[in-house]
Amino acid sequence: MNAFELYNPTKLVFGAGKVKQLGELVKPYGKRVLLVYGGGSIKRSGLYDDVMFQLSEIGATVHELSGIEPNPRLTTVNKGIEICRKEKIEFVLAVGGGSVLDAAKAVAAGALYDGDVWDFTIRRATIQAALPIGTVLTLAATGSEMNGNAVISNWEAKEKRAIGSKLVYPKFSILDPKLTYTVPRDQTVNGIVDIMSHVFEQYFTLTTDIPLQERFAESILLTVIENGEKALEDGTDFDARANLLLAGTYALNGTLPNGVSTDWATHGIEHEVSAIYDIPHGAGLAILFPNWMKYVYKERVGKFAQFAVRVWGIDPSGKSEDELALAGIVATRAYFTRIGAPATLGELGINDDQIDRMAEEATRFGPIGSFKHLDIEDVKTILRNSL
Ligand code: NZQ
Ligand code: ZN
Repeated sequence: MNAFELYNPTKLVFGAGKVKQLGELVKPYGKRVLLVYGGGSIKRSGLYDDVMFQLSEIGATVHELSGIEPNPRLTTVNKGIEICRKEKIEFVLAVGGGSVLDAAKAVAAGALYDGDVWDFTIRRATIQAALPIGTVLTLAATGSEMNGNAVISNWEAKEKRAIGSKLVYPKFSILDPKLTYTVPRDQTVNGIVDIMSHVFEQYFTLTTDIPLQERFAESILLTVIENGEKALEDGTDFDARANLLLAGTYALNGTLPNGVSTDWATHGIEHEVSAIYDIPHGAGLAILFPNWMKYVYKERVGKFAQFAVRVWGIDPSGKSEDELALAGIVATRAYFTRIGAPATLGELGINDDQIDRMAEEATRFGPIGSFKHLDIEDVKTILRNSL
């Protein structure tokens, strides 16, 4: 096991009706609040009214940044930064999915930085300060509710980049499974794939003798596989939604990477695809991940064989490690297809035009991944295999 440090300051407030605690949770941070939300789902569900009521109870002055896009844009983040400066905002409240939370984090960091917030994504500057953030999450997927990451798109430059800092962890995140009842089928599917992909990035590692981390990861995968299908059958199944929501948080809140070298190549490649084609993150991952698996599994066949047996319940008797490993990859693709995720870039209207560019961008700082180091040619092959 490698040495590691674990830091997670986010207070999770989980359960039905927990939005009622919002006012009390915001109160210590000040009364000048920027409310950040997306394209209107929170107005249709009534959550907007509940949030406004909570904020009025503590006498907050609320400014709004609405219309955060899925794959949130830098231009929109910049609008939020302007409001923060002009209105002397003290607290940023994100209400929505991962895109809204990510945009809020970028706004919170950009508001206290003199330069261009994009600098944080291209490693020209590191975050030195940020306004405090709180979140009310409405979609199980990214883990943004309990981590210090945000992913922002510069649409004009066709670039999608991440920022990360301990200063943008939410102070609190409210997770009410009922708020996810209205998530449409396709977004539920994207969320399931994203959560599973976060686990894959940390599970397929060359680090050995890590039984606790492996079983944590496998338990999250099993929970998502079971409860994902249940939530798709009945979107108002409270327990299925609750289990999915908690699994999403644990998949990317710093639990799984402790002592383990993690990969993240597939995420890097996917971000390049959505930077150019603006596809949902989960859809891109559904296409790419089984192709990444096929390309790299020989680096450690035994781990993939373990995955097949423990996660997909494949009977190992009479099978070689190689056969088992491949059966696990086939089972992963079959599950994604069964829940309705795409399997090829072609299904999303993407051809080979931009493969060189995407591979160049994905490897701009050098080879990616740690399970297998992927150079530009490897990335091109995985993308071609995904057409
Ligand atoms: O905009 P509104 O109207 O709110 O609608 C959203 C949006 O259209 C809708 N939605 C969300 N909650 C809903 C709902 N519709 C009905 N009922 C609800 N309760 O769902 C759509 C997608 O929302 P979005 O926030 O984009 O989805 P997601 O949570 O999957 O976030 C994706 C973004 O997060 C980034 C991705 O790259 C992508 O930009 N990621 C962030 C990470 C992080 N911060 O740690 C890690 C991830 O790997 C990922 O890269
Ligand atoms: Zn992801």
